[in-house]
Amino acid sequence: MNDPAFRLRQADLAMGVRTAPRREVAAQAPVEPSPPEARPSVTSTPEPASNRVEVPRPVALRASVALHGELEPSQRVDALNALRARHDAQCPHCTTATAHTQTVFGEGSPTARLMFIGEAPGENEDRTGRPFVGRAGEKLDEMIAAMGLNREQVYIANVLKSRPPDNRTPLQHEVDGCGPFLIEQILIVRPEVIVTLGGPATKLVLGTEEGITRLRGTWSEWAPPAGGLPPIPVMPTYHPAYLLRNYTPKTRGEVWADLKAVMGRLGLPAGSARN
Ligand code: URA
Repeated sequence: MNDPAFRLRQADLAMGVRTAPRREVAAQAPVEPSPPEARPSVTSTPEPASNRVEVPRPVALRASVALHGELEPSQRVDALNALRARHDAQCPHCTTATAHTQTVFGEGSPTARLMFIGEAPGENEDRTGRPFVGRAGEKLDEMIAAMGLNREQVYIANVLKSRPPDNRTPLQHEVDGCGPFLIEQILIVRPEVIVTLGGPATKLVLGTEEGITRLRGTWSEWAPPAGGLPPIPVMPTYHPAYLLRNYTPKTRGEVWADLKAVMGRLGLPAGSARN
C-alpha cells in the first residue's frame, strides 16, 4: 500500500471503527464465506428515519426484477451465472452502439459482505471482460486493500454491463435497460453494505438526482423492491477515476473517511487495514 492517503494512521484506530471480530479470511484466496446467519451483523446505530433517502424505484426496476430467497453459496453462483446468461441473451440493450466487444458482468465473492458498484466498463474492462482492471481499477484495488480486504472478498459490479461508446456517461434508457440486472445481482449477493462509486451508480441505487459531492460520506439505504427484505446501507463515494483526476489531500481524505465509515459498519477492525 504505497498511497499515503490510505495508510492507516495510528489516529485512525480510534475513529469510528468497531473492534468486533470479523470473519477470518484467507490472505489471497477467495473467501469461503460464512452462511449469512453466522456473519457479524451490522451493529451501527441505524439512520434515523428522517435521514433516510426515500428511494422511488423506477418502474422498469420494479417490474422486471426476479425475486430470490436466501441462497446457499453454490446457489448464488448458479443464480449469478443464470442472470449473466439472461443478460447476455438480451444485450445489447444497454448500449445503443456496438462499441463493446463483450459484456462485463461483475465478479467477486457471491456471498460478499461488501459490494462496490461502478458506472460502466471502459476499454480495459471491455478487452478483459472483468470490471475495474484499468487505472481506476488499480485505485479501487488500493481502496479495497486499505480496508484490509482483497478483491476476492468483495463483489464488484457496474450499472452498465457493456462499454458505452467513447466511454461516455450512461444514458437514461441504457440505465433503465441494464439497471434491473444490477438490482438482481444485489438481490442474489445480498451484501451487508453497498458502496456506490460516483454519480451514475449512486443515482441508480438511491433513485436520486442529487450530486455525488453532496451525497458522499452520508449513509443512505437501498430498499429492495421485494417486500420484506431488509434495506441495505449504502455509502456513496467518489469514483476512483474522479479521484485520479482530482488527486488532492481533500478528495483522498474524503474517500478514506467514507471507507472507514464502511469498515466501522461492517465491524472490520482498523488494525486489519494494510499500511
Ligand atoms: N469504471 C467503472 O465504472 N467501471 C469499470 O468497470 C471500470 C471503470
